[in-house]
Amino acid sequence: MTANIKTIGVLTSGGDAPGMNPAIRAVVRTGIYYGLKVVGIKRGYNGLLNGDMAEMKSRDVSNILQRGGTILQTARCLEFKEKENIEKSVEIAKAFGIDGLVVIGGDGSFRGARELCEAGLPTIAMPGTIDNDIDCSEYTIGYDTCLNTVKDAVDKIKDTTESHERCSVVEVMGRAAGYIAVHAGIACGANVILVPEVEWSFEHDVLRPILEGKARGNRNSIVLVAEGVGGVIEMAKEIEKTTGIETRATILGHVQRGGSPSARDRVVASEMGCLAVELLLQGKQNRIVCMRDHVITDVDINEGLAMKKILPEQLVAVAKKICL
Ligand code: ADP
Ligand code: F6P
Repeated sequence: MTANIKTIGVLTSGGDAPGMNPAIRAVVRTGIYYGLKVVGIKRGYNGLLNGDMAEMKSRDVSNILQRGGTILQTARCLEFKEKENIEKSVEIAKAFGIDGLVVIGGDGSFRGARELCEAGLPTIAMPGTIDNDIDCSEYTIGYDTCLNTVKDAVDKIKDTTESHERCSVVEVMGRAAGYIAVHAGIACGANVILVPEVEWSFEHDVLRPILEGKARGNRNSIVLVAEGVGGVIEMAKEIEKTTGIETRATILGHVQRGGSPSARDRVVASEMGCLAVELLLQGKQNRIVCMRDHVITDVDINEGLAMKKILPEQLVAVAKKICL
């Protein structure tokens, strides 16, 4: 470890995700392991801009591994997009003695991290979002917990859908990405999966599988729709009108963002948090900690933000083959 870093800050930004607490814990405990002072910054970039921060000791992160949300709170801080506020934040960080920062969030937060590096505060970013939509990383902290929440919810919806011999149209989160929908759809045996990355038509991709399933004796149909496709209430009405099958719509909503992080999220968050601190200690900055080929590693922020992640074709193909 070469850099002359004595105090590091940590913050969570953007939408929260289960696993942010284990990530904070890993940053705090790794920092302390290497003899650093660690400062927790409240409410994302707001805390940096307003000096809302305090030292965190090892005990401050005791018993948080299993808690959902983020003990540092999070926010979307629009003022942070203005150059003078970035410069002001760097001055405030320096006044608190912070010479390195770890930002846990999504790609918007990564853009903020890049601005901070340019303004003179060495910063490392880590992917924390349920959407799994960070282009340079195969995995984002919170994704596995979210998938399991969706799986449990859809299993329950399926019970009542089957009892009433209905169809259920369920919307899941994911912003513009279909990862949650396609993985949860496979895990729950949905009959139809609609994601924004793949073209679909109502007749061929929605009505046909429902009607063919019914003809084979299916007593329930589950249509899983990514929020990037949307329109589930109208779709449910249209399915009922066209097929005569009673249909209900459910928007799962923010239940998908809560809950105790899964073992996978706790482990990945811990590994990523540890590496983030070690990168700062090695004198590195402007990097994103990520997962590539199942290994926790790091890439340059500019390269990472320029990458494009594509929903794997074989995943969509598997869903098409076995979901009927
Ligand atoms: P996420 O990090 O989950 O993608 P957002 O897109 O809302 O969430 O970004 C989180 C925060 O990151 C924003 O509220 C803002 O404070 C900061 N941010 C986003 N884009 C930029 C940018 N271009 N420059 C500086 N800060 C940004
Ligand atoms: O990025 C996480 C996410 O939950 C998305 O899936 C969703 O589109 C968005 O955040 C919802 O944001 P908000 O909490 O502001 O409603």
